[in-house]
Amino acid sequence: MTGLIEMLFFLPVTLHLPKPPEPEPDPPDDPQAASASTKPLAASAANDLLTFMADPNVSATGIDRSISRARLLRGASRVKDRGPATPLRVCRLPSTAMSGISMEMVAGRMLPAAAYTSADVLGWELRNLFAGTWTCLGRLDELLPWDDNGRPVTQRAVRVGHVGGLLVRHDTQVRMFANTCRHRGHELLPEDATSPRRSIVCPYHGWAYDLGGSLIAAKGFLDRSGPSSGSEFDAGSHGLAELPARVWEGFVFGHGVHRSHDPAVPDFEAHLGDLAGILAPYSIGSLVLADRHAYEVAANWKVIAENYHECYHCPQIHPELCQVSPPDSGHNYDRPGSWIGGAMTLREGMATMSLTGERVSAPLPGAPSDRVEYVHLLPNVLLSAHPDYVMVHRLVPLAPDRTWVECSWLVLPGSPGAPGAVEFWDITNRQDWAACESVQRGLSSPHFAPGPFAPNEDAVAQLVAVIGDAYRAGGIATIRPAPAS
Ligand code: FES
Ligand SMILES: [Fe+2]
Repeated sequence: MTGLIEMLFFLPVTLHLPKPPEPEPDPPDDPQAASASTKPLAASAANDLLTFMADPNVSATGIDRSISRARLLRGASRVKDRGPATPLRVCRLPSTAMSGISMEMVAGRMLPAAAYTSADVLGWELRNLFAGTWTCLGRLDELLPWDDNGRPVTQRAVRVGHVGGLLVRHDTQVRMFANTCRHRGHELLPEDATSPRRSIVCPYHGWAYDLGGSLIAAKGFLDRSGPSSGSEFDAGSHGLAELPARVWEGFVFGHGVHRSHDPAVPDFEAHLGDLAGILAPYSIGSLVLADRHAYEVAANWKVIAENYHECYHCPQIHPELCQVSPPDSGHNYDRPGSWIGGAMTLREGMATMSLTGERVSAPLPGAPSDRVEYVHLLPNVLLSAHPDYVMVHRLVPLAPDRTWVECSWLVLPGSPGAPGAVEFWDITNRQDWAACESVQRGLSSPHFAPGPFAPNEDAVAQLVAVIGDAYRAGGIATIRPAPAS
């Protein structure tokens, strides 16, 4: 049955992909990966199969916001449950969605190799999935910290997908501007650099802006000495372009495509949906950093996210994890918001995820004691909420086959830390990264073909469906909007 449906949904599509933005990927070390990621699109078109996750509720012109997770799953790993009479429909991509690369997708299977190896696809994702939605930039207290003398860092240059932003603390507000001077475009700060100044000064010709983005100094324009001084220069129309930024539970999120107040900016509350309520008992905004590891993983960011979404692999590669949590205990949610995930239970007698199952930090008041929430807020943050700590993976794509992963452990203020959690998850992380890197090498083979998802890979199937939807529609909408009240 599955094979028949796959045959029905082999659909060649032409996808519009703009030129890849920064960061320009480095040449991969692996010769097979190199040939896959650098081959001309015309050549890859013949081999790479990107098939759309067929679903009768998906319209031909864009994302159908009524798609529920359950329907997505029926279109994917549980495709057999639909029965042969279910009117599955071929969905055609709008010609403007992407172009320059031809791919096909198969229902219930991985994305084709090009989705994981192509610099053009990553460029499209950075623009449409990262800059085009709400990318997590990190913790506010680290991005714009206060120094020991109580002086705040007022500015930090960040990157939202392919767009440079300047995060600014303006009075009590966190705002973001395009990191682009209104004179001739110089960056106001180099990426990740900070400044404690009370004004934003361009290092090229010295134009200066206040922390609200208004132009306050422009030599030769706003003084009386230059040829363009005087009334014809309108400082008011040369302020910095403001971009949307939001703070939620201590994390800063940025949007890089549309300006602030543009109605095309995705609604942040709809993006969070019910996730805010599910994670409310953990009070993540009040937690503090206990420890952090940074990893550079030689795998596409989606391979890492897909790995996060299933424990089908746990009996094979995570013996420590299986001792404290049954690998088949997961169940996924079907609730509003642009996130995917669910919970896994702890084994009886186990207090948390640690090598012994014993608590590693002070319990989080109000947090459930019998389970761990594993949720992926798209596009780039994985939140794992335990009874006594919260682990956060933040993904930053560096290249089609390379991803920087920041893993942070957050605990109650005043707790001694969570070394037992760090030890446990560092072992588990490394087991996962080894698997992800192996997958990346395997799917870079010319003999790779997307394989099917098992029933307990349903969250992976959902993620792949969402990504496929986004490729087809030219962007991503809220995965599961809240029902109209
Ligand atoms: S580019 Fe910024 S002052 Fe000239
Ligand atoms: Fe794993």
